[in-house]
Order: sequence, then structure tokens, then C-alpha cells
Amino acid sequence: MPIMTCLHYWIWNKLGGKKDFFFASAEMGRWAFCVLILLWILFPLANSSVDGLDKVRGVNLGGWLVVEGWIKPSLFDGIPNRDMLDGTQVQFKSVTLQKYVSVDGGGGMNVTVDRDVASSWETFRLWRVSDREFQFRCFGGQFLTSSEGDPISATVTSPALNETFYIERNDTRVHIKLLGGNYVQATMNNQLTANYQGVPGWDDNAATFEMTIAANNLLGDYQLANGYGHDKAKEVLMKHQRSFITAGDFAFLSRNGINTVRIPVGWWIAQDPYPPAPFIGGSLVALDGAFSWAQVYNLKCIIDLHAAPGSQNGMEHSASRDGSVGWPSPDYISQTLDVIDFLSARYANHPALLGIELLNEPSAASVPLDVLVSYYMRGYQIVRNYSSEAYVIICQRIGNADPMELYQANIGDSNIVVDLHYYNLFDPYFDNMNAMENIQFIYESRVPQLQSLDSANGPLVYIGEWVNEWSVTNASQIQYQMYGSAQLQAYDAASFGWSYWTLKNDRIHWDFEWNIKNKYLLLGSSPMKTPNNFVWLTVACGVLLCALSGMT
Ligand SMILES: *[C@@H]1O[C@H](CO)[C@@H](O)[C@H](O)[C@H]1NC(C)=O
Repeated sequence: MPIMTCLHYWIWNKLGGKKDFFFASAEMGRWAFCVLILLWILFPLANSSVDGLDKVRGVNLGGWLVVEGWIKPSLFDGIPNRDMLDGTQVQFKSVTLQKYVSVDGGGGMNVTVDRDVASSWETFRLWRVSDREFQFRCFGGQFLTSSEGDPISATVTSPALNETFYIERNDTRVHIKLLGGNYVQATMNNQLTANYQGVPGWDDNAATFEMTIAANNLLGDYQLANGYGHDKAKEVLMKHQRSFITAGDFAFLSRNGINTVRIPVGWWIAQDPYPPAPFIGGSLVALDGAFSWAQVYNLKCIIDLHAAPGSQNGMEHSASRDGSVGWPSPDYISQTLDVIDFLSARYANHPALLGIELLNEPSAASVPLDVLVSYYMRGYQIVRNYSSEAYVIICQRIGNADPMELYQANIGDSNIVVDLHYYNLFDPYFDNMNAMENIQFIYESRVPQLQSLDSANGPLVYIGEWVNEWSVTNASQIQYQMYGSAQLQAYDAASFGWSYWTLKNDRIHWDFEWNIKNKYLLLGSSPMKTPNNFVWLTVACGVLLCALSGMT
């Protein structure tokens, strides 16, 4: 461990060792904190290099070859019936009975219309067939189905025509119709049947329901492609792939001291240009382009399998259809290994390749550790079949999992890296933290964890995602600068390096380019190069001024 780290720690403990030190004496705390930051900034840590390269100082190309609606919402603007995409959660309340449609136990039996309050058994996830035709997946995974004369039940696991319903909308009211033309109604004995006589109006009648959209938070590749339909989706995505990230961005990154891009890709890239519906081709050509630009601007590439078949975490960035996690099944895992084989074969000997990340953010709740470790071992071997040098990057599980679990797993012998994602977000724990508490958290929690992993004599450590954003509202530029500098100081110590999430984003504080251009994130010089004392001093003075002017 570099000597300065010990010194920093000694001083930190002396000045702020007690957890409530800052609160006991705000004024003293400010001073102590300020001195601490000065020391951190004036004496950057000594660093080793990764494969002749400086340590990774990277930026993610998020939202490019794997779509994320929150990064670029406008991609979804042209979809008809835009609030009823795949995975949207809906609830139906009969206007005559004033009761919710429900599947007792979450699935496997007849549907009832008898609940006063809507919760998980009353919530259905949409599978979109067209902009008016849908299938309804209930909590247990089965689909609503109708056969002539019988009440509607939730008993089918693979939906087809009898599980497809036509929806007519009038504001929040809907009619649900079978493809054959019959309307669904709520009967007086609280069943759901497809035998309403005639065509219902929008008055209070047995075939009219109030539809509540409980959540429509999935905006990924599946939603986009299936929402537009193939031709229009192809047009939208081609334009996006060509314009969202360009050679100019690589030039910008290179100018600003970035040496690596981490590029999220989806599993369907391996079947480009004709991936299975609804996925759209084109990402492979775009990835080839990124490798060429990387060579021109002297950057390295990490290919990150962000979306695995079946979805490894149920989120839009894993291209989940409806929020469920199907990945840890043998079929999907072997399909995923084929994708790793494809990517390794294609890029292993490309001079711009730094590493291949086998899987992004598997969910701890749904992916058992032994299944994941066995996948990582097989993936490691596949990459090694093509390259003895490419880094093999394995990502920690998200949710309730200790990254140390991957250090004890013995996944491979050489050039293996564990990727951790550090966000002071996505957990109520951070909700009410002020600026100083957020920065304190970096020093008191992130740094010790990094140190213990760095010294675990196992894989290298990589902070593959972090961001200069937090839950603090109305923070000043200088507070953002301090938070960013604290994170950089901490993550520069990771043995493999770090990459910022993400290059471009509609939300400015997530947008690396915006942060740099507007000086909300002061990158400083690369830790490998001789520190430019003038730059460091300028930053330090800024920090000092900030501390004195009072940060809250
Ligand atoms: C679909 O419904 C029709 C008529 O209601 C029925 O005859 C048919 O067997 C059903 N198909 C399947 C696959 O269950």
C-alpha cells in the first residue's frame, strides 16, 4: 500500500475518527476535511500500470448499442400507444362492481373480480403483440387465457392466439375484446367471462374497466423494437447508432485524458445482421467502428456483455421483456457462452481490445453464486482459447452480495478483473445524505473496501461504473467538484482502474461530456504521469475555498 495512503488514513483517523466528529463540531469538521482533501489531492497515490497502459481511466458508452430510455427518452417518442409497451404493469377495475380483476395466488386458476385494493395479484405485465393487441402476464408468470364459454383463467405459460386480447381505450377506460370479437365482462358473481352481448359503450357497464398503469419503467431494446415494429425500429436504431457516438467523441475523450471505453453490447450482436425478432441488427457494424476509432485516437476497448439472453437482472439495460429474470437456465447460459465465443473470435487479436466483460450486473436475488461462478469459469476459458492476454472481466452481483465472493472463487489464473459499480444512489440509505456525508461515505466505505480487495491477492479491481451524481438537491458546482475529486482519488487506487457512467445522457449530471465541458468534474492528470503541481494546486485551492465558504 502506498505510504501516502497510510498517512491519509492516520490523519483521517486523528481528525475524524469518531463517526459523529463532523456533527459534533461543524467548524472543526470543515477544517479537518479540508486538510484531508488537500493531502489527498496534493499527493496522488503511486500507481502501477495495467498492461503497459496507464491504469484504466475510462468512460462507458452507455445507451448506445444497448438502448436505455432514461438516457435518451426521445428514441421512444414515435411509438403509438407509447404507454403500453412490453413489461408495462396494468390493473383493471370493473366500473360496475368497483372491484379489481385478480388472480388468486398469482396464477394457475380462474380470474376473479373481487378485490378492493390492487397489489401484486391484481397486476398484469403486458406482452405487446401490436399497438392494440396484448397478452397479460400475471404475478406467477402465467398468461390470461380464454376459451369459448369458460371464464377467463390464468393457466397458460406460452401465450398464443387464445391469450391475445384487443384493447379499446377511452382515456382511462378500456374494453377488452377477444380476437374473435367477443367482449370481456365482469359478471355479477365476480367472474371474468368473454360473453358480453353486443358492443359496449363508455358508460358504466359490465364490459368497461378502469385501467391503471402501475408502472411503465422498462424502456430498453425489446420495448423499442417491439413497440415500433421491425421497419420503423430499424430506421430509428440505425440513425441512433450512427449519430449518438461518433469519431468526434473518441477524439474528445482522448483529448481529456481518457484511455479506455467500456462498450455495453446485447447478446443479439452475435447474430447480426439478422438477430431474432424483435431485435434489430446493426450493432456489430457500430462496434467495429468503435474499434477503428479507438485505434485512431489511441484508446482501448472493453466489450461488456450488458444484456444476456433471458435477462440476468430484469432491467431495461439487460433488454428484459417484462422485468423477469430468465438467464440462469442452462439453455440461456450456453447461448451466452456462444456470444462470448463470437466476440472473442472476432476481437481477441484486435490491437484496441483491452478486455471482455462476461456479464453485466447479474442480480443476486435471481442468479445463484454457484451458477454464476461456473459460467464465469467457462467464459474465462473461452476468452483464453483466443487470447492469453485479453483481460477477462467479471462483474459482481447487484443487490445483496459481497464482492469478496468472487475473490474466493478462483475463476482463472491470469489477467482477471472484478468489476464493481459504485453509486451513492439506488438505495434509500443515500436518500437524505448531504454533500459532506456523501463525500465522507467515499472515504469511509468505498476506500476501505477497495483497499481490502486490492490486497486480497486475487483479481484486479475495476470500478466499471460510477457517476458524479447523488441525491443531494441543488448542490453547487463546487460541491460537485469536491464529490468528483473525492471519487477520482478513491477510484484511482483501484488496481485496474475505473470508468465513468456514461459519456452522454439526457440528465446532465450523468453526462461525462457535460461534466467536463462545464467543469463539474475535474479530471486532473492521469495518476501515472508526473503530477502537474500547478493543476493540483489550483484544484486544492478551489477545494480549500469551498471548505471555508461552508459546505452543507
Ligand atoms: C382456443 O380457443 C378455442 C375456442 O375458444 C378452442 O377451440 C381451442 O381449443 C383453443 N386453443 C388452444 C390451443 O387451447
